[in-house]
Amino acid sequence: MIRSFRTHGPSPARRVVLLAALSLAVLTGARPAGSQAAPTAAAPTPPAATAATVLVTGANRGIGLELARQYAARGWNVIATARKPDEAAELRKLAAAHPGSVTVEVLDVADHAAIDALARRLAGRPVDLLLHNAGISGGVPNQLFGRMNYDVLRQVLEVNTIGPMKLTEALLPNVLASAQKKVVLVGTSEASFGGIDAGRLYWYRSSKAAAHMLMLNLAYELKPRGVAVGVVNPGPVDTDMMKGARMPLQPPAVSVGKVIGIVDRLGIENTGRFWDYQGGELPW
Ligand SMILES: NC(=O)c1ccc[n+]([C@@H]2O[C@H](COP(=O)([O-])OP(=O)(O)OC[C@H]3O[C@@H](n4cnc5c(N)ncnc54)[C@H](OP(=O)(O)O)[C@@H]3O)[C@@H](O)[C@H]2O)c1
Repeated sequence: MIRSFRTHGPSPARRVVLLAALSLAVLTGARPAGSQAAPTAAAPTPPAATAATVLVTGANRGIGLELARQYAARGWNVIATARKPDEAAELRKLAAAHPGSVTVEVLDVADHAAIDALARRLAGRPVDLLLHNAGISGGVPNQLFGRMNYDVLRQVLEVNTIGPMKLTEALLPNVLASAQKKVVLVGTSEASFGGIDAGRLYWYRSSKAAAHMLMLNLAYELKPRGVAVGVVNPGPVDTDMMKGARMPLQPPAVSVGKVIGIVDRLGIENTGRFWDYQGGELPW
């Protein structure tokens, strides 16, 4: 059954088209015309002690950078994490435009010692929204049946699956100390068991499906403590991950606007669901 925030979620036929297009894009490895969305224009925001706080992983490019931009433009405090902040020019520009309210933290989500160190640095600071965005596809050539690269599978699991779990454990006190208490994973329709129609992207799909399941477990585990957990599919988005897709791709600004609208409506009453960027619910 499809439950929806809106009454007009995507039709099953439309969903199949989107799934096929997304898979094709990742499989082809080609680059689409155009590049990432223009930054959302935002005036400098003063630090706001009472503003909500979001922590975004992989905030140096793609969807993560746009999430940081849009939350900053809304006046949120943004803890933007990146593996290599020194090389994250766009992110540092964003932080400079929002002194105090956008801060950049180093974080490789596959590095558990680094996660623990981040948790120590953030001790006592409420995090209203923990947004697991960092992710890798693993590359199509590494997950073709008959030529599977198992070392890449381990890397993909570390980043897409284990990282979000470890980070949630480490930062749970920060989430519990916040007003909104939300944990959200940027998931994918590619990992929806109900949407599979061909064998492909074994590593990416399985790592994300496992991450979805971890979030569903957390939803049950954390509901009594007032924490809402959700998975949101951003749809096909024009980022490095979708290089060369010969299909319509949303600019990150458009997709992220929809994702944020869904996250806004997440609450304890609808915890543990898998949302599509268009507002409907996807089958796990
Ligand atoms: N684009 C789409 O159409 C689409 C569709 C469905 C779901 N998604 C999901 O959306 C999320 C963002 O993807 P994207 O399209 O924005 O891809 P992207 O442009 O390739 O960005 C990936 C981000 O993840 C970061 N990252 C990779 N490994 C990391 C690690 N070990 N620790 C911390 N950060 C790491 C990257 O940082 P570096 O620059 O340091 O590598 C980068 O910031 C992913 O979870 C992806 O699966 C995307």
